[in-house]
Amino acid sequence: MKPEIDSNKIVVFTGAGISAESGLQTFRDSNGLWNDFRVEDVATPEAWASNPELVLQFYNDRRKQAFDAAPNAAHDAVTRLEEKYEVIVITQNVDDLHERSGSTNVIHVHGQLKYARSSNNDSLLYLYDEGKPIQVGDVCDEGSQLRPHIVWFGENIQNYELARKHLVTAGRVLVVGTSLSVYPAAGILKKARFNAEKIIITRQIDKKPSGYKLLRGSATTLVPSVIGDWLNGKKVI
Ligand code: APR
Repeated sequence: MKPEIDSNKIVVFTGAGISAESGLQTFRDSNGLWNDFRVEDVATPEAWASNPELVLQFYNDRRKQAFDAAPNAAHDAVTRLEEKYEVIVITQNVDDLHERSGSTNVIHVHGQLKYARSSNNDSLLYLYDEGKPIQVGDVCDEGSQLRPHIVWFGENIQNYELARKHLVTAGRVLVVGTSLSVYPAAGILKKARFNAEKIIITRQIDKKPSGYKLLRGSATTLVPSVIGDWLNGKKVI
């Protein structure tokens, strides 16, 4: 028996495209990170084992860029949605622009740049905000080298069950700025209910998820427009 849909609950599921207009690179666009770096060199446990300095440098650069960036009109519109609805942000992004915009319930499924983690004890996290770099020799209380608190390819996603629970009961789902290329994160969207209002905003996507209305364009234009309709009690036409 599926739980009741909550018409007051909105899940906003985001990817790198929502932070693009804050100046942060996406991954798979023509100027994306995976054009500049190979995943195997900087975003796998094997990369960490063979060249920790390169991996640390990759995330230190991104941590500094994220700290220097500011939330944009799309992040701020998502924050405004909380005036009228229970809003759960589920993000693949590792920046903290949603939190800095004012969103109060943000679930990260791929980790967060602003924390370092013991490489031997997942429960030991250390705040590395203000763009602070993690260096070789930075160790946890148990003496192990600190690593980025990021989900690498081949590692388990974070908060999957919590994210799924919210998708199943959401009355509305707004997806913003993701190519839906990476599973299981992208697969969580399939848990949204048939009669929930479902919208995806993105510049371009290979395969639109079934049941979602696709609005092509930039997040800073389309997200405030959709959220304005929802705040005025209107369905998005
Ligand atoms: N407005 C709206 N959408 C945009 C904008 C913008 N200004 N700029 C880019 N986009 C869209 C692109 O069209 C694309 O569909 O955002 C999406 C970005 O896709 P990816 O670069 O694949 O980023 P994302 O979907 O977040 O990647 C998922 O892959 O490498 C892993 O862990 C990494 O969390 C990341 C995951």
